[in-house]
Amino acid sequence: MSNFSGNELVRPEILNLKSYRAAEQRADTIRLNANEAPVATGSADSQQGLNRYPDVRPFTLQAALADLFEVKAANLVATRGSSEAIDALVRAYCRAYQDSLITTPPTFEMYRFYADVQGVDVIEVPLNADSDFTLDPDAVVSNCREYTKLVFLCSPNNPTGTQLPRGDILDIAHRLQGRAIVVVDEAYIEFAASESMIDSVDAVPNLVVLRTLSKAHALAGARCGVAIANPVIVETIGRVLPPYSFPTPVIDAVLAKLSKDQLQQSNASLTATIAERDRVSAALDNLPSVAKVWPSEANFILARFYDLDSVQQSLQENRILIRTFGNREPAEGLHDCARITIGSAHENDALLNALSTHAREN
Ligand SMILES: Cc1ncc(COP(=O)(O)O)c(C=O)c1O
Repeated sequence: MSNFSGNELVRPEILNLKSYRAAEQRADTIRLNANEAPVATGSADSQQGLNRYPDVRPFTLQAALADLFEVKAANLVATRGSSEAIDALVRAYCRAYQDSLITTPPTFEMYRFYADVQGVDVIEVPLNADSDFTLDPDAVVSNCREYTKLVFLCSPNNPTGTQLPRGDILDIAHRLQGRAIVVVDEAYIEFAASESMIDSVDAVPNLVVLRTLSKAHALAGARCGVAIANPVIVETIGRVLPPYSFPTPVIDAVLAKLSKDQLQQSNASLTATIAERDRVSAALDNLPSVAKVWPSEANFILARFYDLDSVQQSLQENRILIRTFGNREPAEGLHDCARITIGSAHENDALLNALSTHAREN
């Protein structure tokens, strides 16, 4: 299937979609073509006055993000968080009440959310909870039906913190070439020991890698992520994104955070989070209330407790929030489990103190 262009899988109405004709923006012109206000009012921090629309697509930001992820600009599209890239992929490729996508629970819930919004069937191919949430590539491929358009794989996976082997992801992508697009969500890859799959997108035409600035880059509030793929897929995602969607102050804030200085700071904080993760993980392992701690390649830890309700209650009394799964969640293998985000050393100490006190009192 080496002649796969990428367009075969796109919804026909998206292929035929007339792109929005944005007002031309040129420096040194009198701009009377976009119904903007002529002067900025109030305090405009931005280099470009907020009276003006931003670029129809955030081209300058995309160029900086392409540098950050070491890809060509044509391989990358910026989205408002990687969540928007998930939504855009589902809308661009999946026809309502006809197409389906595959997820591998327990995993990030937004894949299902956007599938439900679009009226797309979700085929679940669960990770093997009995063997530390491993993936069965054969099961993924055999569950891919005629109208399955997308396969979402999350590595490191939220909420298990485990990674999917690179070889398995490539194997699935090769076997599904021409049939489905494999989306690897690498929201937490910076915290992992292994490398991103970005370097495979040129060779694997049906592979999309999602990255975000919300985690290791500490920019969740800016809402900035990217989809990295071959230019045909990148162009397709761009088709369904709204024009002017990146606000000027967000573009400015992200560009500032991508300076060398700021990147060094993010790196230092990443190293600290990884060290804290390993410390918290070892400490949890020694607590009598903890039944199991999974090794994590992310900025959180999945743990199983003997009595999750009482643990949660004591944490709430200490004003500490964790994400519990309990026994009511449908995702397999998560009974009595909680996902604990790695905070600052001080916050992690507070968590461990509260858990130790709980263990002594129970
Ligand atoms: C696996 C995974 N992917 C994507 C996201 C979304 O990140 P954002 O939209 O902030 O880029 C998250 C957020 O928690 C996540 O856990």
